[in-house]
Amino acid sequence: MLVRVLLTGAAGFIGSHIRRALEGAGHDVVAIDFMLAAAHGRDAAPPIGVYRVDVRDPDALDLRLRGIDAVCHQAAVVGAGVSAQDAPAYASHNDLGTAVLLAAMDRARCRHLVLASSMVVYGEGRYVDSSGDSVVPSPRRREDLDRGRFDHLDSAGAPVAWAPVDEDTPLSPRSLYAASKAAQEHYAAAWAVATGSTVTALRYHNVYGPEMPRDTPYSGVAAIFRSMLAAGEAPRVFEDGCQARDFVHVHDIAAANLAAVERPLGDFAPLNIASGHPVTIGEVAAVLAGAHGGKPPVVTGEYRSGDVRHIVASPERARRTLDFIAEVTPAVGLAEFTSAPLRTAVAAGAPTWR
Ligand SMILES: NC(=O)c1ccc[n+]([C@@H]2O[C@H](COP(=O)([O-])OP(=O)(O)OC[C@H]3O[C@@H](n4cnc5c(N)ncnc54)[C@H](O)[C@@H]3O)[C@@H](O)[C@H]2O)c1
Repeated sequence: MLVRVLLTGAAGFIGSHIRRALEGAGHDVVAIDFMLAAAHGRDAAPPIGVYRVDVRDPDALDLRLRGIDAVCHQAAVVGAGVSAQDAPAYASHNDLGTAVLLAAMDRARCRHLVLASSMVVYGEGRYVDSSGDSVVPSPRRREDLDRGRFDHLDSAGAPVAWAPVDEDTPLSPRSLYAASKAAQEHYAAAWAVATGSTVTALRYHNVYGPEMPRDTPYSGVAAIFRSMLAAGEAPRVFEDGCQARDFVHVHDIAAANLAAVERPLGDFAPLNIASGHPVTIGEVAAVLAGAHGGKPPVVTGEYRSGDVRHIVASPERARRTLDFIAEVTPAVGLAEFTSAPLRTAVAAGAPTWR
């Protein structure tokens, strides 16, 4: 059945791909974006067909929510954050924005939300020791990281192995951005119960692909490596390069959103959206460098505060409930990414919140 969808963050990296997927499937899309300077540069005009709307503006939302069947909420301030000064921007755009949107959806009797969430809500992820028992690690200590001790250890001092997180893993955000994404989920879950609505929270893993933002402190690591290679430099890989992640192509993210819009699940359904092919950060740098014909990666031993050691999702529940299986493997997608166009606009510094 064709539906009328309000898409927030429609001018963003992921939102622009979702817009094409929804429209390509015949759905009627009302596209909105605030054109945040931190994402698009100062005074950027919205793309054709996108209304400039701040999701924190209830009157503007009331206007755009008329006749809407479902909301696909991508608008957010993204990235790991640079300092504590970013906290108000995450809270304002991501959490206040979501709360204002949920209240407006209730006024409009719009009962289905697809929320862009993130694997960052899991914090340190899941680990098992040599006997297969679960280990719940604390955040890594600065003094260990400074000495190049990157792995979580079991009680006997042996490194523990990562295990795929499923959606029942307790949320444990470790960064300001992660805290804001977890809070979005909590607001949405409570709203679903209070209003009898449905929410599908798609926990994306590391997203990459065409139109990804260029190298900024808020960009994903694939774009950062790509920019280093384009500048003739070797990609600089932090820690020992063995950090495990899942890189999922933006075309697959768009497909997952299309499926989630078309198929409401329970009252609150969190789903991991991942490729199902875990890779290490060192491997990502090597694939990009090889495909680009650039300098081989350099493992630096540096680290970023708030980064987790490993985080790998199980995509099994999304397969079962949404029939979602990622089509693009990282080996193919990352090699193609070296020549994909990036977002042309240059971001204008740290996000603001007023
Ligand atoms: N890129 C990733 O790897 C990744 C991973 C996990 C989750 N996510 C989530 O996916 C969503 C989209 O991220 P993206 O990578 O496309 O980022 P992006 O910065 O390219 O897009 C976000 C868009 O939201 C808009 N926006 C921000 N605040 C707004 C507001 N108050 N009102 C209206 N629009 C506003 C921005 O102008 C921007 O166009 C976000 O919710 C993000 O948290 C992204």
